[in-house]
Amino acid sequence: MAIQQFGRARATCGYNVVVAILVGPTIMTSSYSRNQDLWSHSPSQVDFPTGQVDLWKVGLDQPAAAESDDILSPDERLRAGLFHFEKDRSQFVRCRSSLRNLLARYLGVQADEILFEYTANGKPQLVAKQNPRGLQFNVSHSASVALIAIGGNKRIGVDIERIRDDVDTTALAKRFFSQRERVALEALPKGLHLPAFFACWTRKESFLKATGDGLSFALSDFSVTTHPDLHPAIEEIRGDAEAGRQWFLADLSVADGYSASVCVDTPFSGLRTYLQD
Ligand SMILES: CC(C)(COP(=O)(O)OP(=O)(O)OC[C@H]1O[C@@H](n2cnc3c(N)ncnc32)[C@H](O)[C@@H]1OP(=O)(O)O)[C@@H](O)C(=O)NCCC(=O)NCCS
Repeated sequence: MAIQQFGRARATCGYNVVVAILVGPTIMTSSYSRNQDLWSHSPSQVDFPTGQVDLWKVGLDQPAAAESDDILSPDERLRAGLFHFEKDRSQFVRCRSSLRNLLARYLGVQADEILFEYTANGKPQLVAKQNPRGLQFNVSHSASVALIAIGGNKRIGVDIERIRDDVDTTALAKRFFSQRERVALEALPKGLHLPAFFACWTRKESFLKATGDGLSFALSDFSVTTHPDLHPAIEEIRGDAEAGRQWFLADLSVADGYSASVCVDTPFSGLRTYLQD
């Protein structure tokens, strides 16, 4: 559920965020305040992300290329046509055409040839016949930024949320977070409550998106770490700490005023972060 449903938009605020790189089971973290500097321009060629996770940042306020509508499938064009506001339509086209263009580069096919299928809970994935090496992806968007996570042969989920201070974090935590998370949040210094709430939110949602279960997996049935500047991890799933250790979380430094996380079911050696033109 997008957090936009819980109040008005506000100006974004900056805070230090953590990039976590997983090396086997080890997590190394470093703090950055100018996180945008970590995103490289698109390389001329992309290689298959064996053992890696590639993150692509897409600016949704940039106009989509003229031919973007043409590479969408008929059902995507239909969906684009249903948006009431042109801004929303244009952001959807920019996001979906970027996804198609990126996947086309990894798969060596034309962007308009990409075929998606959807799981019972709506998670888009590549059709098997087009995807012999098991490329996986997930998409998230909030305000004017989208993230596209791409990995090889691993279940993957990504979530980004714009940080806003006009939400009742205590009420939302009570509604969506586990008891363990609520206790941990309350124990943090007041100044950390807002970034901790959003860190917790994106960590949880990236896990749900990796499983593809969406809301069919109860949010209180698992707990993530809550400190926004300390290593992200799933602490337990239905009381089982070992089950939590089967999943690997990393926080992403995307832009001032945003919180974001990626979750995969396989250890990965690094994150490569790129800007999508
Ligand atoms: C889709 C869902 C998984 C995430 O929705 P969201 O946060 O509003 O949106 P995001 O921008 O992060 O992700 C949307 C994208 O996820 C992908 N997606 C759709 N269903 C998905 C699913 N079941 N699993 C993973 N990804 C999914 C799609 O690519 C979609 O992009 P599109 O709309 O352009 O097609 C949502 O249905 C959901 O169930 N969210 C969890 C609810 C919640 O209460 N979370 C609280 C966190 S504590």
